[in-house]
Amino acid sequence: MEDNYNFLRFVPIFADLDDPVIDKILKLGMRKNFKKDSIVFFENEPDTALFVIVEGQVKVSRVSDDGKEVILTILAESDFFGEMAILDGSNRSANVTAMTDTDMFIIQRSDFLNLLQEHPEVAVSLLVELAHRLRSADMKIKSLSLKDAEGKVATVILQLADDVGKIKNGTVEIERLPFQHDLANMAGTSRETISRTLHAFAKKGLVELTGSNLKILNYEKFKETYLS
Ligand code: CMP
Repeated sequence: MEDNYNFLRFVPIFADLDDPVIDKILKLGMRKNFKKDSIVFFENEPDTALFVIVEGQVKVSRVSDDGKEVILTILAESDFFGEMAILDGSNRSANVTAMTDTDMFIIQRSDFLNLLQEHPEVAVSLLVELAHRLRSADMKIKSLSLKDAEGKVATVILQLADDVGKIKNGTVEIERLPFQHDLANMAGTSRETISRTLHAFAKKGLVELTGSNLKILNYEKFKETYLS
């Protein structure tokens, strides 16, 4: 991001606030860098701060009793996380791990709750984002329980397109596609299935794979085919 001072303007829940309020939030929070692969926090920890991603990417995951990781989502620049423990006062609902070197802005729970009281428009934007995340989780539940391998992989690609993709002339480009074992943990399938299905999509002309970039060539058509 070009202007680090202005990063809060790109965070949807803060986007409509006046300059003095943005300045106030900047003074309340602190910046912290997390190295690639470091743990930001573990599921069930009691910590309650809100994190905004200034630059970088994190994965939100849970680990099953037999040690298998399920990636719930990947969050990137201008996304926030940690609001659930703030809102319901419970422990962390999931693990968060930095997937790249990640620069974070951290606001303590009491400061964030004060902000919600003083600026109800932030609370409304937060509800909009939570509704969006619930829709996405519903889509994933449907995909995991109903779809074949191709449908599961397509759902993960669409989720990434929605979270971190860049739209241009009807195409959506996902830069730095997660590793295939991470994609497998998102889709509830194997790494081999991910590799086979991505190449099948490329052969059908649905996507273009260049290094770690994936481009959905006709986003609307891809969505129509696999989201119904
Ligand atoms: P919290 O429970 O405080 O800590 C883990 C965070 O991960 C959680 O708040 C949310 O911000 C985020 N999170 C958990 N589940 C999901 C999900 N399904 N989609 C997006 N973000 C999530």
